[in-house]
Order: sequence, then C-alpha cells, then structure tokens
Amino acid sequence: MTVTIVGSQLGDEGKGALVDIWGGEADVVVRYQGGDNAGHTVVEDGNTYELSLVPSGAVRDKVGILGNGCVVNPTTLFAELDTLRDQGLNPDVRIARRAHVILPYHRVLDGIEEEIKSDSDLAAGTTKRGIGPTYEDKAGRRGIRIGDMLDSDVLRERLEYVVPQKRALAEQIYGLDIANSEHADAFDVDALFDTYAAYGERFREESMTVNCGAYLGDRLADGDELLFEGAQGTSIDIDHGIYPYVTSSNPSAGAAAVGSGVGPTVVGRGEVVGIVKAYLSRVGTGPLPTELDATETETELADFIREKGGEFGTVTGRPRRIGWLDMPMLRHAAQVNGFTGIAVNHIDVLAGLDEIKVGHAYDLDGETLTTMPATTERWGDCEPVLNSFEPWPEIDWAAVASEGYDAIPAAARDYLEYVSDEVGAPIYAVGVGPGREETVVLADPFDS
Ligand code: GDP
Ligand code: IMO
Ligand code: MG
Repeated sequence: MTVTIVGSQLGDEGKGALVDIWGGEADVVVRYQGGDNAGHTVVEDGNTYELSLVPSGAVRDKVGILGNGCVVNPTTLFAELDTLRDQGLNPDVRIARRAHVILPYHRVLDGIEEEIKSDSDLAAGTTKRGIGPTYEDKAGRRGIRIGDMLDSDVLRERLEYVVPQKRALAEQIYGLDIANSEHADAFDVDALFDTYAAYGERFREESMTVNCGAYLGDRLADGDELLFEGAQGTSIDIDHGIYPYVTSSNPSAGAAAVGSGVGPTVVGRGEVVGIVKAYLSRVGTGPLPTELDATETETELADFIREKGGEFGTVTGRPRRIGWLDMPMLRHAAQVNGFTGIAVNHIDVLAGLDEIKVGHAYDLDGETLTTMPATTERWGDCEPVLNSFEPWPEIDWAAVASEGYDAIPAAARDYLEYVSDEVGAPIYAVGVGPGREETVVLADPFDS
C-alpha cells in the first residue's frame, strides 16, 4: 500500500519528522515534486539531519526515490549525500530518468527574476534554487531530463538548443553582462556539457537512475510499502495555493501519482495524511490574514513563538512569519487532498501562552467564509474571525510523549479535537517536540 504525507499549510509543518516516524514501516520513501527548495528535519537520538533533496527515509536506511515530478540539482544532491555520509548515514537514492535537471542558469535566472519582481509586490521570496525556471522549461518542452544526461549526444543537442535562448534572455531582457560576470560558465554550452556529462557518468556508475513508475510498480507487486513524502504545502501549491506567491509544483496529494508513475487508484486506496502545524509559519511573501504583526503585543508574541519554535528557514535561514492557525486554509487542504488522517505538530510551542486564538473563518466584505477564496487578492482582503481557546500550561513534554494522548493537557486536547472535527479527519499523531521520541502516535497509517 501507499501512505502519502502532505503539508497542509505553507510548508515546514514538520513533514520530515512524520516521514521519519512512519518511515520505519515503509520499504521505499518517494519524493514526487519539488527539489532542493525543501528543508526537512529529522531529529534522532539528539542528531539533527537536514534533508533537502534526499528523502527523509535515509535516516532509517530506506531506499529513497526522486520521482519524475521532482527537479534535481546534481551539484546539491551530491553535496547533500556527502554531508549525510559524514553524519554516518548511508543513503541509497535513485532518481527517475524522467525527472528534470536544475542547471546553473536556472538558479541565476531565479535570482534575477526575484530581484526584478521585488520592485512590484510580485516576488514570491523564492529559495533561489532555480525551481521555478526549471519547471518553466519542463512545461516549455525545452528542459533537460536526468535520462538525457546519460546520453552525451542527446545532452549536447538539448544544451545547444536551450542555452542560446537563456543567454539571450539574461543579456537582452535582463541586461546581464554574462562575459564579465561570475556566471559565464552557467551560460556556456561546452562548460555545461562537460559538467553534466560527468554527472551523468557518475549516475550511471553508481546505478542511481530508474524508470520510476516501473520500479515502484515492481516494488508494490512484491508487497512493499511506499511512503510518499510531499514537500512544501497545499497553500503554496501552484494550482491550489496563493498564486503567485507559490512554488512551481503540486505538493498536494494528487501529484503523488503523477509525480511518481504510480496510478491514482493505487495512491487513492492508500492513506493521505495531512501534516498540520498548530500555528502558521511562512517563509516568503504575500498576504497572511492571521499573521501576528498588527500590534506591538502581537509582534512580541510572534517573536516568542519564532524563537521557541526555531522558526528560521531550513534552506535559507530567513526568519519565518508567524500567525494563528487558519482553519479556512485547513478546510481547503482537506478538500484538495482528501485527508484520511492528520498529524498536528508543535503544540509544545504554544504551551504557556496567555491566550491562544484560531482563525475559525473569514469576514470578506460582511460575508462569512469558511474556506479560502480562489484569488489571492480576495484572500488578502479577508479579516480573520478569531476564536479563543483556553491556553495549556508548559509541562514535561518528553513525559507526555511516553505516556500517550491522555497525558496531553485537556485544553490542548480540546484544541486538537476541534481541528480534527473541522477538517473531518482523525488525529494520527501529535508532535510535542522535534525528536523522534517526542511524538504521540495514535495510529500507524500502514496498519489502517
Ligand atoms: P518540514 O519542511 O515540513 O519537514 O518541516 P521543517 O523541518 O522545515 O520545520 C519543522 C521544524 O520543527 C524542524 O526544526 C523540526 O525539527 C521541528 N519540529 C517538528 N515537529 C515538532 C514539534 O512537534 N514540536 C517542535 N517544537 N518542533 C517540531
Ligand atoms: P518544505 O518542504 C516553506 C516557498 C518559498 C517561496 C515560494 C517559492 O521544507 O516545507 P521556490 O524556491 O519553491 O520557487 O519558492 O515557496 N517555499 C517553501 N516554504 N517550506 C518549503 O519547503 C518551501 N519551499 C518553497 O519561500 O515563498
Ligand atoms: Mg521545511
């Protein structure tokens, strides 16, 4: 069977931690979208692993697959593999030959486009990893796939077609003086060919590429369990998120099928677990109706939560914006993903506050909305209708994690049950700290 782990908000909900918890039951962990814009954290026995491209199952020695829906930067992939090996892991990663390659010019263009957009309010605050430009080229049928790197004739032909276009874009539209910049090699066919043909050779020597759908089909036929590891979150999905402040892929559960080559009926017969952070964090721009930034008291509260929750971007180190939980956003995520269960993380971070609020609905021009409007402009006009919850005290969360759900303070359980009722899905796990042992597990989706 399959279990799909999906971010239900704006990314950084703690997906890595749950992939690690339930990954113990899986045989293969599959990323189906995104690239090294993701930053997933696994804390095991006091060791912290930051995973960007390598599926989080590596911490448990599971085979990790980067599906066809991913965009792969070989340079950062090999660097990440080295770092994880230095940390004592032995990651076994296979990459779909249909996955697209992030090339150096994609990163340069991502940076330039963000810079230009920052004059208006259109910049998404991207991770500058070249994600958007790579997916653009995929859709524009001028992308380079992992499989192309294994055949030097094809690689050269593709580069000779696309690189002059990228040069022209950078020089003539964006005014970059390529020859006198640090980016000369990023737009040079010969330099790119040498580097990427060598990466292709390395992929071949290390048997790192697969025909993803066929490989996963065989594993399923052998009775193996697949865990799909979504990156980012539903509200930054290119279709279902707060466009244009989104990433360029589909983090939502439907993409697990398209981005891996496993049929939607197979994914749909499995479990889809939404990962929820007990409040909101956001790296990036755009509106955020429940953001804590309106008064000095709110800003102080946001600072407190940011520090306590370590809310600084895993990939970029940027401080994350903080807000109250947004229920219309979660109802939207439940609709888009069809959650069979949820995991709610970070309830420990909210402990000890004087007040806890939740954006239960929105007020939009006098009308009450219980889900997100379809345009980001209208979303920005929404005023949250806030419900107050009784706060819960700071307690020994490690003890709670070992004692189980009933040891969670009653007020926090009320909060959890409210969330579960509103999204119409049972609680499978509650995060009370970053470590593997600091999660109260109520269900194992592989056993349901
Ligand atoms: P991901 O991108 O969804 O995998 O999440 P990140 O790893 O970017 O961010 C989540 C952060 O919160 C990481 O530092 C985790 O170690 C940490 N974390 C996960 N679950 C919990 C939790 O329940 N409580 C606390 N305090 N931290 C958590
Ligand atoms: P994980 O998997 C949070 C955000 C960026 C930016 C927008 C587009 O760790 O949850 P991109 O570089 O993807 O083109 O940037 O998406 N973003 C994330 N925010 N968590 C992530 O991943 C993110 N990946 C991208 O901040 O607003
Ligand atoms: Mg993250």
